[in-house]
Amino acid sequence: MSKSAELARLIRDRAGYAAPEYGLILGSGLGHLAATIEGVATPYSDLPGFPHAGVSGHVPQLVIGTLEGRRVAVFGGRAHYYESGRADIMRLPLEVLRELGCERLILTNAAGSLRADLPPGALMLLSDHIAFAGTNPLIGEASDARFVPMTDAHDAGMRAGLKAAAEAEGVDLPEGVYCWFSGPSFETPAEIRAARVLGADAVGMSTVPEIILGRFLGLRCAAVSVITNMGAGLSDESISHEHTKAMAPLGAAKLEKVLRRFLRG
Ligand code: HPA
Repeated sequence: MSKSAELARLIRDRAGYAAPEYGLILGSGLGHLAATIEGVATPYSDLPGFPHAGVSGHVPQLVIGTLEGRRVAVFGGRAHYYESGRADIMRLPLEVLRELGCERLILTNAAGSLRADLPPGALMLLSDHIAFAGTNPLIGEASDARFVPMTDAHDAGMRAGLKAAAEAEGVDLPEGVYCWFSGPSFETPAEIRAARVLGADAVGMSTVPEIILGRFLGLRCAAVSVITNMGAGLSDESISHEHTKAMAPLGAAKLEKVLRRFLRG
């Protein structure tokens, strides 16, 4: 039996057999939703091979349960490329999600803004992304399935649903392009200017590898950024992880409303 099948069995034994309709990966400071789910939490430490997400502000556990009447699997805490140098660090969790029968993935992250009309506290729905970190989670994958088309990486149907949910909640949810930098250092002002020239609207250190892996595994994907700061050099405010965690709740409350409405359908 494959490792993901084994782990899926362990999780089903604990949390029940129904397939989750949505997988959710929550970013820095955005984990509150996981705590509100009626369900079964499995610490990553009980799931051999799951990454030990080491970033403060994340709770490393998988919660399977019900949110707004939908069966969901929530990954509280993702592992980032910059923790290990492995862009495929989230591959096993996503394989397990697929093994559990899930077909849709929603990701959230904290991001720096490149646009004056996206201030800290704003939300941005990813219309597309730029994998600027210079690596790919499918490097080393041997099968021809590695040649994943990325034209529909950000699922049009899910995006429309998220937009409609935001509108119903009176929350602004503009779309934009997310540019993935490896981190863990923040960008220089010159890199931020470069990202703008390349067509990015926000920058961050996550999400893109999971979208690539998600598409590889046949998951429909959508992602929302919570803007926690202006990109380096675009404002006088300092940029730090502490600042990111402090600012995330500003947008997180709006994001939670949108996600709940989206799930209610
Ligand atoms: N850059 C990269 N990642 C981030 C930022 C940023 O400015 N803010 C929050 N995550």
